[in-house]
Amino acid sequence: MARRCSERGTVISFASGPAVLPPEVLSEVREAVGAWDDSGQSVLELPFGGSDYAAIQSEFEADARALLSLPPAYRVLLLQGGAFAQFRLVPLNLLRPTDRAAYVETGYWSARAIAEAREVCLVAVAAQAGAAIPPVATWQLPRDAVYCHVTGNETADGVQIHRFPALGEVPLVADLTADLFTGPIDIQPFGLIYASAQKNFGAAGLTLVIVREDLLGRARAEVPAPFDYTRQASTGSRVNTPPIFSVFVAGRMLKWLRRQGGLAAAAARCERRSRMLYHVIDASRLYTCPARAADRSRISVCFHLPDAAQDAAFLAEAQRRGLWHLAGHPTRGGIRACLYNAMLENSVAILADFMREFDETHPGRA
Ligand SMILES: Cc1ncc(COP(=O)(O)O)c(C=O)c1O
Repeated sequence: MARRCSERGTVISFASGPAVLPPEVLSEVREAVGAWDDSGQSVLELPFGGSDYAAIQSEFEADARALLSLPPAYRVLLLQGGAFAQFRLVPLNLLRPTDRAAYVETGYWSARAIAEAREVCLVAVAAQAGAAIPPVATWQLPRDAVYCHVTGNETADGVQIHRFPALGEVPLVADLTADLFTGPIDIQPFGLIYASAQKNFGAAGLTLVIVREDLLGRARAEVPAPFDYTRQASTGSRVNTPPIFSVFVAGRMLKWLRRQGGLAAAAARCERRSRMLYHVIDASRLYTCPARAADRSRISVCFHLPDAAQDAAFLAEAQRRGLWHLAGHPTRGGIRACLYNAMLENSVAILADFMREFDETHPGRA
């Protein structure tokens, strides 16, 4: 029998997503799936036009607005299709085919966003860097750029933008799939933010889009109605059946985050968790971290051993100890520990101890 290595059971998952959820949230979800209220209906059976779902959605929105201090000029849209769909839907909603947008390329996910955007608009790569965030002073924004797209956390590469710049007239559009709700943000420079829920605030199925009102009304005719920001804004995200279950789970996650002290406390937890691992990496003979130190991610900690065989040995031994899903992104190799909002500090301490022990008992690099 495997030993229990967390309050949840015999394994700790460091997966890039879906992520672990807090036990309290899982228990609320279990209860609501069994019976939503005294009527015996399950949360899975609530009609989307009814008052029960309306309350679930409006509470979610109120908590999101409170956590992010969103001014009224920003609309909150609850969509589906994941962040990947937004890579193309953002330009389709905001730009004509001859309009230009600037993109900052910082790793795997921003490259995917650029490839999708290139299919439907003009793209200028304002700056490009591997394993680092290019300094804002070096970004070259074309004068006609309608927006500048950034990726808050490069989940495959282990780099993160720790401070979002204000670019004057050019609004930021940001993929915050791996970092929304992990710390306070100043919303003012942003025209639009999008994020899938399954890493930091719930279960797969919900894609949150937060858009400044003045950017609505531009969708191209070919955008299907459920992905048209303007139509979704004018129907309260009910053009068609919303992902009710995922909205419910996300609502419970936001309440949990508020009970835990809000986003400043979430940021402090991210800092403490990631510091435990970077501390071991920096003191070790075996591990190297490709990311530039100042840009290291507090969400996805990526590192390598001296060769692929040692990466494989590390992963096999980790798996045997119940430390699961630590393989790096398939295009990057190495090791990756994702430390999303519900990751317990104690779980990270167990991984840090294992890393230290592996470093001490295995031959280092030549
Ligand atoms: C930064 C980032 N953007 C986008 C995506 C794609 O998200 P989804 O699979 O929900 O479309 C991911 C998934 O890992 C990601 O990490």
